[in-house]
Parts: sequence; C-alpha cells; structure tokens
Amino acid sequence: MLVVFGGMQLVRPARTNPPVNAANTLEAQYEVPGEVKQVLERACSDCHSNRTKWPWYSHVAPVSWLLADHVKDARRKMNLDDFQEDVSVKDICKELRIGTMPLKGYVLLHPEAKLSGAEIQAVCAWTMKAQAK
Ligand code: HEC
Repeated sequence: MLVVFGGMQLVRPARTNPPVNAANTLEAQYEVPGEVKQVLERACSDCHSNRTKWPWYSHVAPVSWLLADHVKDARRKMNLDDFQEDVSVKDICKELRIGTMPLKGYVLLHPEAKLSGAEIQAVCAWTMKAQAK
C-alpha cells in the first residue's frame, strides 16, 4: 500500500498558472459590476482562471491528478482570464440556476464558494443585459 502510494507521488501533474493577459479577461470584454466580479472570483476563479490557488492536497496523488484535470477542463470551457466567445455569459447564469456550478465537491471543501439566491440573481440579472464592449 505504502509503496503504491509513494510511487503515485512521483507522477506529478502540471499545476500551472499561465500568465494573465489583461486584454483577454472577461472584464476587458464586458462591464462587470463589482458584486458579480466578487462572486466569480470567490466561487469560480480557482478552476476557471489562470490564478488557481492550489491547496496543499493538490500536491498529493491521486487527488492531484483529479484536481489538475478539473482545472484543465474548466479552463478549456471557460477561462475568466482568457474569455472566448464559445461560452456565452448567459451560460454562467444557466450553470448557477441549475446548480451544477460551482462543483459540489469544491463547495464542500470551500464553503465560502456557496452562493446565495440573491447572488445568483445578481449574476443572472447582469448576464441578461451584458453586452460585449
Ligand atoms: C472545482 C472546479 C470548478 C469550480 C469551482 C467551478 N467550475 Fe465551472 N466547470 C468545471 C469543470 C471541470 C467544467 C467542465 C466540465 C463540465 O462541463 O462539467 C466546468 C464547466 C463550466 C461551464 C461550461 C459548461 C458547458 O458545458 O458549457 C461553465 C459556464 C461554468 N463551468 C461556470 C462556472 C461558474 C460560473 C462557476 C462559479 C460560480 C464555476 N463554473 C465554478 C469546474 C469548476
């Protein structure tokens, strides 16, 4: 058991935080009200930005593999620091309404990422009228 666990630690996934190009951020492309920005930073940016705070357990396999994968997938789908038009801001509201985001496991470990009904409303109200600059 110990040998297997030790061996697993040798397979270290890349926990990268690529540089942020200010011209590509969501904010460079949309007016984002303070409250909305605060919600996205608090509940989404660990997975959906280039500024992931990698916790200590992200260094321990097999958790490290799982987290690195989540962040890679999440950034590919939507990156607040490299916002691409293939995901629309309206998808943000949709994910919050159906409750798939932030991921349940993440909220268990980061209770501060839990969003109130009022916060979800505020984000959705913004996505309804948000227009690309
Ligand atoms: C623990 C990591 C994590 C957190 C935190 C997180 N997400 Fe995600 N998100 C993912 C992953 C992984 C995917 C891609 C796989 C999937 O679609 O389930 C994803 C996909 C998405 C997508 C694309 C859905 C689609 O299939 O088109 C949107 C939009 C999204 N997330 C929004 C958010 C928002 C908004 C927040 C914050 C309120 C958030 N996410 C928080 C991991 C996360």
